[in-house]
Amino acid sequence: MAAVSRRTLGRVKILLTGAAGFIGSHVAEALQAAGHDVIGFDLRTGTDVRDDAALDGPLGRVDAVVHQAAKVGLGVDVADLPDYASVNVYGTAVLLAAMARHGVARLVLASSMVVYGEGAYDCAGHGRVRPGPRAAEDLDRGAFDPRCPRCGAPVTWAVIDEYAPMDPRNAYATTKLAQEHLAANWARETGGTAVALRYHNVYGPRMPRDTPYAGVAAIFRSALEAGRAPRVFEDGGQRRDFVHVRDVARANLAALGRGEPGSLTAYNIASGEPHTVGEMAAALAGGRGGPAPVVTGDYRLGDVRHVVASPERARGELGFAAEVSFAEGMTEFATAPLG
Ligand code: UD1
Repeated sequence: MAAVSRRTLGRVKILLTGAAGFIGSHVAEALQAAGHDVIGFDLRTGTDVRDDAALDGPLGRVDAVVHQAAKVGLGVDVADLPDYASVNVYGTAVLLAAMARHGVARLVLASSMVVYGEGAYDCAGHGRVRPGPRAAEDLDRGAFDPRCPRCGAPVTWAVIDEYAPMDPRNAYATTKLAQEHLAANWARETGGTAVALRYHNVYGPRMPRDTPYAGVAAIFRSALEAGRAPRVFEDGGQRRDFVHVRDVARANLAALGRGEPGSLTAYNIASGEPHTVGEMAAALAGGRGGPAPVVTGDYRLGDVRHVVASPERARGELGFAAEVSFAEGMTEFATAPLG
């Protein structure tokens, strides 16, 4: 196996799962541009991570696996549970077992900020708190901000770092957290090195268009393309970190030579430039020349209010900092092709 130093990375042979997807295709481009050899795996092109026999050939020839293949989105209802578990949990388990068989000791895993659930908040009386799900009666009367779970006082949002407790709130989040745990098990038992990249809200060219599983940037972009106004839920003040897909691809490249043998290390992958959903809608509508967003006051019961990332650990340990600004990225995305 080629030696992969922690700091400088030579040419590496990589199995990239999900290579035909939105994020995976950008990761493939970044890895190839850096001179690495990439073997792509993707359900859409007929290669499935759940297929042990199909993995044996490529895993005999690679030094690292970059695992992007996943069923994404929030799901529609409980009928989706078996498919999430099969693709995301079982698929990762099969892949890790096959990596162990072939002595492939390095993994970069696509994880998600959804493992945190609601973001972090500060209460004047109780310091850092993690509110539970918001009540329908509060949302019905337009009280969108969570309150202190101990005293009920208003709270202010704070950045969330990698040490926050896990609180997965839907099938997708649960399976992403299970992937992290399985990868940590694999690392501990084999001495392998696992790096989990907790992507915040990824957007950019080739983002899949509007489906029940799509993120808000794709939904707004699809609406604008059809000449419809983006429909902004709640009061539009909910905050996210919108991170450009080319920056996410660069983060995967940065993660390849890092991490600690025998363990999994997790990083927020974010722009460090939080914006509200209302601001994002306005930026996209502006970039296309309208129609202007409509703030509807509607809500989705499972949604969290603010998730604002601390990008510091990735900056310090991966040397990763986003390069695409919100203004630049949204202007490009306003007219970029969707997947
Ligand atoms: C999203 C992804 C999640 C991913 C995470 C990090 C989905 C459905 N969610 O979670 O899988 O792991 O980013 O990348 O893919 N909203 C509107 N109008 C709409 C739709 C949504 O205002 O038409 C609002 C929602 O109420 C919410 C915010 O936009 O407040 C973000 O929604 P969304 O992108 O769906 O979910 P995230 O929780 O950010």
